Amino acid sequence: MISAVAVKETESTTNAALKSGSLKKVVVLGATSGIALEVQRKLAERGCELLLIARSPERLSELQADLSIRGARQVLAYSADLALMQSHENIFAFVRQHFSDFDTVLLAYGSMQDQKQSEASVEAMLDELNTNFVSAAALLTIFAADLERRRTGCIAAITSVAGDRGRRSNYVYGSAKGALSLFLQGLRSRLHPAGVRVITIKPGPVRTAMTDHMATATRFTDPERVGREIAQALERRSPDILYTPKIWRFVMTAVEHIPENLFKRLSF
Ligand SMILES: NC(=O)c1ccc[n+]([C@@H]2O[C@H](COP(=O)([O-])OP(=O)(O)OC[C@H]3O[C@@H](n4cnc5c(N)ncnc54)[C@H](OP(=O)(O)O)[C@@H]3O)[C@@H](O)[C@H]2O)c1
Repeated sequence: MISAVAVKETESTTNAALKSGSLKKVVVLGATSGIALEVQRKLAERGCELLLIARSPERLSELQADLSIRGARQVLAYSADLALMQSHENIFAFVRQHFSDFDTVLLAYGSMQDQKQSEASVEAMLDELNTNFVSAAALLTIFAADLERRRTGCIAAITSVAGDRGRRSNYVYGSAKGALSLFLQGLRSRLHPAGVRVITIKPGPVRTAMTDHMATATRFTDPERVGREIAQALERRSPDILYTPKIWRFVMTAVEHIPENLFKRLSF
């Protein structure tokens, strides 16, 4: 069930947009994510215009107020279940009607269910693949066609270091993220001639609602740092693949080089 929440437009009193010199209009798919929240705060401080899309109308309203106070020039919101393919047409109709000249799309939603559930139930496994890959690829296909036609803009999507190698303890989530990374790689090549950037974002473990039940969560990276690095990547020239924090590029290079014969024996 989709419902449009009240559209709220706010002129920033800080004039941050004028100061930034490069206004951006950003659509955020999964705006209530802990990582997305931090990205949006940075973008709001720079006076960007935002269209927030997420499931909870209540949390969207709170976010609208928060980001407006922080300097966002305009904050629109739309509530929808993004994993529901039937909702995609209505989502894009809303974008076309209220935010047609957007220049950036950030895909941030995802789920990390208990891997054991996916092992025990095909339905749970397919849900996980749908949320993290199939629905994401479907949505990005719609947004990509629009940006390609206008020959401008940027698509950024949060995948994960978990997608770089299949592990015993989370290979369902990992395979969905790995598939999304491959999808983005191909999309980047397709959109390159049209001048549309595609950024693959691969965070290491981050302290958010997704991970706060984990015993080691206190050692994970602060979402503020990851949000800052993603916001910077959206604003300026950035690598096509952003590992955040950067150390994860080196960690994953090492992990990828562990021989399969040894890797299959590791229980993590
Ligand atoms: N935290 C980490 O360690 C980590 C590491 C690497 C990559 N990532 C990825 O980073 C992204 C953001 O995660 P996070 O860490 O910020 O966790 P989070 O705070 O739990 O955010 C996940 C978000 O996805 C939304 N979502 C899930 N299913 C949805 C659906 N069907 N429709 C609409 N929204 C949906 C959730 O909305 P509700 O609030 O409505 O449930 C929530 O806002 C995810 O793609 C995640 O896989 C996270």
